[in-house]
Amino acid sequence: MSTNSPPGFTQATVGKKVLMAITGISIVGFVVMHLIGNLQIFIGQEALNKYAEMLQSLGALKWAFRGVIAFFFAVHIWKGFFLWLENKKARPVSYAKENTLEATLASRTMIYTGITIFLFVAYHISHFTLLDCHPEYQSLPLVDGRFDVYTMVILGFSEPLIATIYIAAISMMAFHLSHATSSFFQTLGLTNPSILKKLKLMSQAFAFIIFVGYVSMPIAVLMDIITIPGGGH
Ligand code: HEM
Repeated sequence: MSTNSPPGFTQATVGKKVLMAITGISIVGFVVMHLIGNLQIFIGQEALNKYAEMLQSLGALKWAFRGVIAFFFAVHIWKGFFLWLENKKARPVSYAKENTLEATLASRTMIYTGITIFLFVAYHISHFTLLDCHPEYQSLPLVDGRFDVYTMVILGFSEPLIATIYIAAISMMAFHLSHATSSFFQTLGLTNPSILKKLKLMSQAFAFIIFVGYVSMPIAVLMDIITIPGGGH
């Protein structure tokens, strides 16, 4: 437990923080892989569609991966909620008034940015995986025998409201990550203030890279930098 842990923190709290850290860093791993995969939209239709087809062809492995990542999300949300409740009980005076080392806006709003990410992921899966809020994507013509994920993503982001929802949610996710990554190292026991300061900066730089990477896609579609071959959008 770090030396600046508030009073009222117990071994159970440490256990929850460790679980949060392990599940959180695994989710970050997914977020990075998902970004690298989707950035292939900038290479073109064939590259992104081939990548999506490769993921689909993983069969049982894909389902195992989905199960693990869903489990990590569930544990992270569950433990995070109870940690937030404990924090509230142990800290009747708000962080802002205490002015502790930890009291950044990002750290105080983790529960809210976290809830936003959860709502976004639920919508996003319904949008691009289940296709149930846009069933018309199911009838997109196949390209070279593959489902046309490229056109689906462009159609999605060419609706300004949807692109705005994505940009807002990605901003919240980046804000969440800006605190989460440095918090991960703190949970591992790194308490040296000068190292922590550097880790905080690195964590913010990392969150910024993730932000730029993800928002580049809806923005590129809105600015017509990426278009459907032969059809604009
Ligand atoms: C511009 C941003 C994004 C694009 C273009 C994008 C694209 C996609 C696509 C095409 C799928 C469907 C994959 C499939 O069914 O095979 C998908 C699924 C998914 N995305 Fe994203 N995504 C974006 C942002 C995000 C963000 C910020 C998260 C946050 C965690 C996220 C989490 C997920 C999850 C959990 C799935 C379900 C994975 C699965 O079906 O196995 N995505 N995304």
